[in-house]
Amino acid sequence: MEEFFGSDHYIIANGKVSESCPSNIALIKYWGKYENQIPANPSISYTLSQCKTNTEIEFLAEKTFSVQTFLAGKEEKKFAEKIEKYFKNIEQYLPWILKGKYIIKTENTFPHSSGIASSASGFGAIAKCLMDLDDQFTGKSDEEYKLKKASFLARLGSGSACRSLYDGLVVWGETKEVANSSDLFAVLYPNNEIHSIFKNFNDWVLLIHEGEKSVSSTVGHGLMNTNPYAERRFQEAHENFALLKNILKSGDMKSFIQLVEHEALTLHAMMMMSEPAFILMKTGTLAVINKIWEFRKETNLPLFFTLDAGANVHLLFPSNKEEDQIQSFIIKELVQHTQNNGFVKDVMRF
Ligand code: PMV
Repeated sequence: MEEFFGSDHYIIANGKVSESCPSNIALIKYWGKYENQIPANPSISYTLSQCKTNTEIEFLAEKTFSVQTFLAGKEEKKFAEKIEKYFKNIEQYLPWILKGKYIIKTENTFPHSSGIASSASGFGAIAKCLMDLDDQFTGKSDEEYKLKKASFLARLGSGSACRSLYDGLVVWGETKEVANSSDLFAVLYPNNEIHSIFKNFNDWVLLIHEGEKSVSSTVGHGLMNTNPYAERRFQEAHENFALLKNILKSGDMKSFIQLVEHEALTLHAMMMMSEPAFILMKTGTLAVINKIWEFRKETNLPLFFTLDAGANVHLLFPSNKEEDQIQSFIIKELVQHTQNNGFVKDVMRF
């Protein structure tokens, strides 16, 4: 932790920086946390490439601290309050951070109302901008440290954001299965431990329900504190890491599909077994899942799903000669279950 404390030797000046950061989709889910954004279990995600947040931060060195935020050109006072709180929270790591005025302009490449998590890409982009400013005020740090600290800072904004700083398969949370893994920041899953079949993947997001989620992730994580199944779930995530490690190495697609879908359904089952309970799926979510299962039974083709804490379905399938048949099926059979014929085509970044 000490390595992230900021130096008191800095010279601030006006500055403008901009950064872009992609979203990510978890295969083993983070759901449940302890104080200071420490995850209750390790998680692993694919970083996306099309769903991104672009952020520009203008810093004006002034006596009073203030934040103004614009989302897609529109001033958002609520978001500014959230960022002010966040900046105050990370002052020990960036001691200059409260010494000026911020004008933050941010926009997502995916539809704002889509329900696609923007907090991961959003906090990822802000953390990168802050490290650019830190370089200007305290002297340039090496790239590896800068990314690591950006991941550490992003985590304090939104846990899953720390995984968006790296491309490929990214791990957050200490697990004996991955060397150097940490609860404090994300690390890359070793590239030479991943079979080529998992390196070229599509993620098409079906926008089953656009708009606000029925439960925020803060509330969702909190519900795990009183969920009687929580400890078993955290243990299972560790067990799934051991399984996944072998799967990723051997290229066992069947087991990969089984594990990833199980993780998604477990996340939703946890919410159904919370008190109060939440059902985050909609009719369309269930219809799509059943159609995917039928399709797999009939064709044996590797189309499968994962879910965020919402109704949208992430359709996963490898990029290879079979993908045309899968894509035709999605367009013909699955898109009809979205709210406004909405879907986003993405691919994994490596
Ligand atoms: O980063 P948060 O607090 O928004 O939590 C996100 C949790 C899930 O997206 C449901 C799972 C994950 O690991 O990304």
